[in-house]
Amino acid sequence: MGRHTRARIDLAALRHNYALAGRLAGDAQAMAVVKADGYGHGLERVASALEGMAKRYAVATLEEAERLREAGIQQPVVLLQGFHDDADVATCHALGLEPVIHSDHQIDALADSGSTVTVWLKVNTGMNRLGFAPGDVDDRVRRLRGLDGVTLRGMVTHYACADDRNDGMTAHQNALFTDLAARYPELAFSAANSAGHFRPEAPRFHWTRPGIMLYGATPMIEESAAELGLRAVMTLESRLTAVRTLAPGEAVGYGASWRAERPTPMGIVAIGYGDGYPRHAPTGTPVWVAGARVCTLGRVSMDMLAVDLSGAPQARPGDRVELWGAQVSVDEVAQRAGTIGYELLTGVTARVPRVYEDPVVSG
Ligand SMILES: Cc1ncc(COP(=O)(O)O)c(C=O)c1O
Repeated sequence: MGRHTRARIDLAALRHNYALAGRLAGDAQAMAVVKADGYGHGLERVASALEGMAKRYAVATLEEAERLREAGIQQPVVLLQGFHDDADVATCHALGLEPVIHSDHQIDALADSGSTVTVWLKVNTGMNRLGFAPGDVDDRVRRLRGLDGVTLRGMVTHYACADDRNDGMTAHQNALFTDLAARYPELAFSAANSAGHFRPEAPRFHWTRPGIMLYGATPMIEESAAELGLRAVMTLESRLTAVRTLAPGEAVGYGASWRAERPTPMGIVAIGYGDGYPRHAPTGTPVWVAGARVCTLGRVSMDMLAVDLSGAPQARPGDRVELWGAQVSVDEVAQRAGTIGYELLTGVTARVPRVYEDPVVSG
């Protein structure tokens, strides 16, 4: 039907990746980070697929948390940036959300609202985006504990460089956070993002927060997802809509940026940057066509792109094309395009239908 451009979502792979996160978390529990529409995979479907496994979810925005509740997710939901608007404290109370408190104005809003809310305190151990300095924590804990209705569940910090096994920053952040954990043994502590799971020396504390690894892209700068034991969840696929042979000297696409030096069989694929395929992917970006690994040619257009079929001379219009998935990792495409898998996965646009595959449900 249609142009056959779609994102197939393998929910069994998602569960496989979550189970790996759980094992790597050791005695800690892994809260599933499903923000940004489940990293582009579909918030409700991802969260539902992890029900029974994930005991806690984490999102960035109140709207995402509301969607989880509307989808019937009953587990605690952590709001990683807390609330932006004072009026949202009441929604946190009504929906049982757990905002992360990173600033004094949020503590003031909690005091003014008088609502019953469970919160986490954000500690800035070196990322320097959000949170209280370790030296300010005792005072803010005292303030929060002095508020009727407010329960302080624990503390959260976020790694800046855990994707690099040779960084010196993670050890520094862990030393600061470990000190706090020792002083507040009654509270829950959470530090590890996906990369933290692959740093055996990093303490796991009580809760880890895996995001990108759940979706099967690598969180590490030097290891592929496959090397880490992760399985691609999204397969972005389309079809060949046309095949032609370019004569020597002929160019393809806007700007005529690539020109054939010899007779070159070429295919046009029905996907482009309007679907979230990166326009910055240069000539040579890998693509899987009709069972062979080939590469892109010239500039990516809004609705189509060109591929070199020299390595797949048998390819015909209608043949399946994988832009990323199990054969070509999203990380490889991202690296070619000068970005990261996170951006590509979250950037697949709304016009690309998500098609879910779940062997547990379909039998
Ligand atoms: C506070 C916080 N925790 C956890 C995560 C998950 O990170 P990752 O996707 O690298 O696992 C994020 C994502 O950016 C985050 O902002």
